[in-house]
This record gives sequence, C-alpha cells and structure tokens, in this order.
Amino acid sequence: MQKITVIGAGNVGATCANVIAHKELAKEVVLIDVKEGVAEGKALDIWQTSSINNYNTRVVGYTNDYLKTKGSGVVVITSGLPRKPGMSRDDLIKTNAVIVKEVTEKVIKYSPEAIIIVVSNPLDVMTYAAHIASCKDKTKVFGMAGILDSGRYKAFLADALNVSPKDIHALLMGGHGDTMVPLPRYTSVAGIPVTQLLDKEVIDKIVERTRKGGGELVNLMGTSAWYAPGAAAAQMVEAIVDDQQRIFPVCARLDGEYGLKDVYMGVPVKLGRSGIEEIIDIDLDKDEMKLLNDSAASVRSVMDAMDAMNLF
Ligand code: NAI
Ligand code: 2OP
Repeated sequence: MQKITVIGAGNVGATCANVIAHKELAKEVVLIDVKEGVAEGKALDIWQTSSINNYNTRVVGYTNDYLKTKGSGVVVITSGLPRKPGMSRDDLIKTNAVIVKEVTEKVIKYSPEAIIIVVSNPLDVMTYAAHIASCKDKTKVFGMAGILDSGRYKAFLADALNVSPKDIHALLMGGHGDTMVPLPRYTSVAGIPVTQLLDKEVIDKIVERTRKGGGELVNLMGTSAWYAPGAAAAQMVEAIVDDQQRIFPVCARLDGEYGLKDVYMGVPVKLGRSGIEEIIDIDLDKDEMKLLNDSAASVRSVMDAMDAMNLF
C-alpha cells in the first residue's frame, strides 16, 4: 500500500505507526496530531529506528496538515483523551465525539476511498460517530477493541495454564467495556476446549479480569494502555493491506445480526482488502445471548447520550 495515516500521535497512535512501519505495511506512514511538533517529533524518532530495525517504510509527521494524508488507503483514528483513574470510557463521550467527527471529515476530504479504523474511546460509540461523519458504507468504518480484549484474555489464560499464548484461540464479543462478553465455550488451547483444562471458577476469574483489563492498567499507570492497543490496531491494518481474510472480533454496525439492529459492537468478522468482508453469525446459547443483549443495551445507552448532544 502507498500510504497509511494514523491520526493522533499520542501513546496509541505512535505505537501503532511504529508497528506498521516495522511490518512494512506501506511505503509511507503519516502521523497527524493537533499539538504543534508532536507528530513531527514522534515520526522522526520512529524513522530513526529504520536502519536499526531494518525496514524501509518512511514515517512522517505533521501538525494538522491533512493535505499530507491525501490518498491514504487505511486511516487509524486514535485522537482523543485517554482515561485517567476513576474515569470510565464513557466519561470521554463529548470531548472525543467532537474530535472524532472533525478528524473523520478532514480524513474523508483527502482520502474518500480510505478504510477507517477507530480506536478512540468510548470505542463503540466513537465508531458510530466516525461512521456517521464519514457517510461511508459500514464495511469501511469499524473499530478496534476485540483484538485487544481477546489479547488480554489469552495472556491471562496462557499464565494460568503455563502454555504458549500462540496456542490459544478465543472469541470475545460485545461492547468495549465492563459488559464485554468473553466466550469460554469458544476458547481452545491447541484445539482442546479450555473448559476441559481449567475449573469454572478459574475461568470465571479470568473473564472478570479481562472485562476490567483496561481499568487495571489505568490504575497502574495513571493513563490507559498503548503497546497492546497499538499492536492490535496494526494487526487489523495488516489484515486489510495483505487481504488476509482473517477472522477477528471487530466493532461493527449490526443490522439484524444476532437479532440486534442499529448498534455498534464487537462481533467476529472476516477482514480483507475491502474492509469487513463478512460478519460471522455464530450460535450463542441462552446465557451468552443474554450477556450480548446486556452489552448491546449498555452501548445503546451511550449512543443515546451522544445523540442527545446533537453533535451531528
Ligand atoms: P494520548 O493522550 O497519548 O494521545 C492522544 C493524542 O490525540 C494526543 O497526542 C492529542 O494531542 C491528539 N489529539 C487530540 N485532539 C486531536 C485532534 N483534533 N486532531 C489530531 N490529534 C488530536 O492518548 P492515547 O493513550 O494514545 O489514547 C488515544 C485514545 O485511544 C483515547 O481515547 C483512549 O481512550 C483510546 N484507547 C482505546 C483503546 C481501544 O481498545 N479501543 C485502547 C487504548 C486507548
Ligand atoms: C483499554 O482498554 C482504556 O480502552 C482502553 O486499555
């Protein structure tokens, strides 16, 4: 791919740009930030690792200059405030919705064909905001959270089982919040159902820790995580750029899948060159469906709160 843009050169955006460059997913990565000099500085620092880390992707940064993003194939939106201790992701609604709306409109002006991956929080509702602001098809505008949340779930399982995280396959659905729905019935270790390897109480504790995984890091660091979020967003970029047809949990607009409509949340999708190639509708039992419906209700309440602000 010729050009990939990352909006927001903070912790997550710079990490994402760094991983994209390492993987040589494009000829050029453009970092944009509103703070004077930040994108330029981070881009220069990343670019100066190119000879050390052996890659060619040129990384450049600009303060608010969207002309430089012209013709991007994929744009990752990370601009916005992160959580501080005591804040929920939803506390960020208004500030971040205004930012996401503004940057999406600017992105689309110069890259009307771009696929947009939203990272800013509250994730599901910011995906909604970017989708409305972009006026694009829902297969081209979606959000990153499920790869991060399932990455946390897999890391906790790998620790509990003392196995390689590479052997763990897991599915996690729902909104990016405390109501997210890790699915032990769809979790396996080298093909062995995890329910045969760990007691229910241990799995339940891991599920609960996963749900609170973002907050655990906010409490430790005073701000939210960036290494795993940045790498997770870059993994989605890679699936698109290389047309991998990989199946990941991605925040997508639902129009009848799982019996849910007009809501944005994490579901398994196939990702390829066209963006979301397919939303995969798996069988959920009664208890799993209840958790998913509760999560959808929680996302909807935040969507309603944003709608009531009349920002669009
Ligand atoms: P950060 O504060 O390190 O970086 C955010 C950057 O956005 C700052 O450099 C800021 O100057 C920039 N920015 C603000 N307004 C802008 C605008 N109008 N145009 C361009 N840039 C602008 O924050 P961090 O840690 O990178 O997090 C970014 C966002 O990602 C937050 O909303 C955070 O909650 C969210 N997040 C989402 C995750 C997910 O799984 N979806 C995981 C981790 C963070
Ligand atoms: C995270 O899960 C706060 O959404 C951010 O790390």
